[in-house]
Amino acid sequence: MLTIALSKGRILDDTLPLLAKAGIVPVENPDKSRKLIIPTCQEGVRLLIVRATDVPTYVENGAADLGVAGKDVLMEYGGQGLYEPLDLKIANCKLMTAGKVGAEAPRGRLRVATKFVNVAKRYYAEQGRQVDIIKLYGSMELAPLVGLADKIIDVVDTGNTLRANGLEPQELIATISSRLIVNKASMKMQHARIQTLIDTLRAAVESRH
Ligand code: ATP
Ligand code: PRP
Ligand code: MG
Repeated sequence: MLTIALSKGRILDDTLPLLAKAGIVPVENPDKSRKLIIPTCQEGVRLLIVRATDVPTYVENGAADLGVAGKDVLMEYGGQGLYEPLDLKIANCKLMTAGKVGAEAPRGRLRVATKFVNVAKRYYAEQGRQVDIIKLYGSMELAPLVGLADKIIDVVDTGNTLRANGLEPQELIATISSRLIVNKASMKMQHARIQTLIDTLRAAVESRH
């Protein structure tokens, strides 16, 4: 059995057409179903529906053989426990700092709100800047508006969310796309099967560009 961990929303929407090119089609629509294990038309392949930030956990621990996760999530997760053999070039965005338009630098320590705590610590440590990091789980754009933080670190695509809240993108931390990730033991034990899938997905990605 090959088990593939995916998250609902943009990753599922953009990955299903790629999997279809490898002949992997879910037997029911994961967006409509309440089931978290979805069989596919290939008897030996199933999908797990998990939260985006949980995909690396399932794959590193072998609860899933493969998964699709944003590079932002992988940077935050960290570690060497996963293979990352393929850039799927989906869910493209940028990981950026942002703050209120025209805001002056704070007098004390910079307060940065984000769900990417590890990325934020690393980013400011590399610059030798001391900051206070405030962990949030979503709606980061709100933090500077209500005085919870001076800046945020979040993903930006069109910039519409920042603009709608009077914020502006500032420093680029990384350009982001989603990656196929593979459990290390699975890669050894099911090498031929997984390598064939990687090759097919790579061809599907390249045929779109
Ligand atoms: P959850 O909804 O469970 O809190 P999430 O918000 O991280 O998790 P998604 O919004 O589906 O889940 O994001 C999945 C991945 O898609 C992110 O890790 C990021 O790489 C990318 N992404 C997030 N927002 C955008 C966006 N607005 N445009 C393009 N890609 C995005
Ligand atoms: C993401 C992200 C930003 C927004 C950026 O939110 O957290 O808020 O997209 O995209 P933009 O630059 O095109 O506006 P998402 O749409 O995933 O909603 P969420 O809060 O449910 O994660
Ligand atoms: Mg999101």
